[in-house]
Amino acid sequence: MIVVTDASEMQKLCRKIKLQGKTIGLVPTMGYLHEGHLSLMRRSVEENDFTVASVFVNPTQFGENEDYDTYPRDLNRDIKLAEEVGVDAVFAPSAEEMYPIGYCTYVEVLGLTEVMCGASRPGHFRGVTTVVSKLFNITQPDRAYFGQKDAQQALVVRRMVRDLNFPLEIVILPTVREKDGLALSSRNTYLNDEERKAALVVPESLRKGKELLQSGERNAAKIIEAVKKVIENEPLARIDYVDLRDIETLREVETINGPVLVAVAVWIGKTRLIDNFVWGDYPCFGKC
Ligand code: PAJ
Repeated sequence: MIVVTDASEMQKLCRKIKLQGKTIGLVPTMGYLHEGHLSLMRRSVEENDFTVASVFVNPTQFGENEDYDTYPRDLNRDIKLAEEVGVDAVFAPSAEEMYPIGYCTYVEVLGLTEVMCGASRPGHFRGVTTVVSKLFNITQPDRAYFGQKDAQQALVVRRMVRDLNFPLEIVILPTVREKDGLALSSRNTYLNDEERKAALVVPESLRKGKELLQSGERNAAKIIEAVKKVIENEPLARIDYVDLRDIETLREVETINGPVLVAVAVWIGKTRLIDNFVWGDYPCFGKC
């Protein structure tokens, strides 16, 4: 496995691989890899001749008062883990390499980015779509892999790929969880023991929503209310949002009669956790 920090070197290598008629899979990450990231890499290794995993804590997707400086980093460990699952190249540029002095070009998806995490974190998705566009141009992938854990991100990136004619396929894979149900996240490392226990309220609240849907409830407001109630019972938890939206448009729905995304963002102390599930038949999540 090769580790590349230089964008033009990475681009040259990928161009060479494409000229050999090989397919490239890209797994963009911010590092501090866990099984969620590794599941994406394994799938890419299976489906492509050459897999690039990027490890880059992207400053433009963090707000002023967010955790850019404290975000966990361990590149040597990431390199080892990526190699173990068969990744061919790790692209780990510096912030200066990706955003040199004078940098002033951004990619923005409208609409889908104005709700949920986009409402709580202004500018966040602009940073994501900008860095992902750069990574696509640098690595020229045939497929790029994203986790359902960040469902809105995956939908926004897929929209961007369609809108801007990026010649690649977006593959969205299921959320990997701890045995007790908590979705894996690099940010889980921020939680102390007490908070880690309290964080279970996140998957629990979603289970409650799913239960109601399974028992035939179709009134969105009632489901949202029930999910909120579970979270509010946990003293260490503070709701950022609980949303139930059309999976394609991310518009709010009143009555559920098609596939919807049920998503929550919850503060546990100083840590913001997100999680979701999709209800209804929607082949792009999980199944394909
Ligand atoms: P990061 O949070 O490191 O996540 C990288 C990829 O791993 C994303 O597609 C995310 O959805 C996926 N992922 C995270 N936790 C997961 C889990 N428990 N199960 C399955 N997949 C999981 O998301 C980002 O980085 C950044 O925004 C990025 C796309 C790299 C742009 O900077």
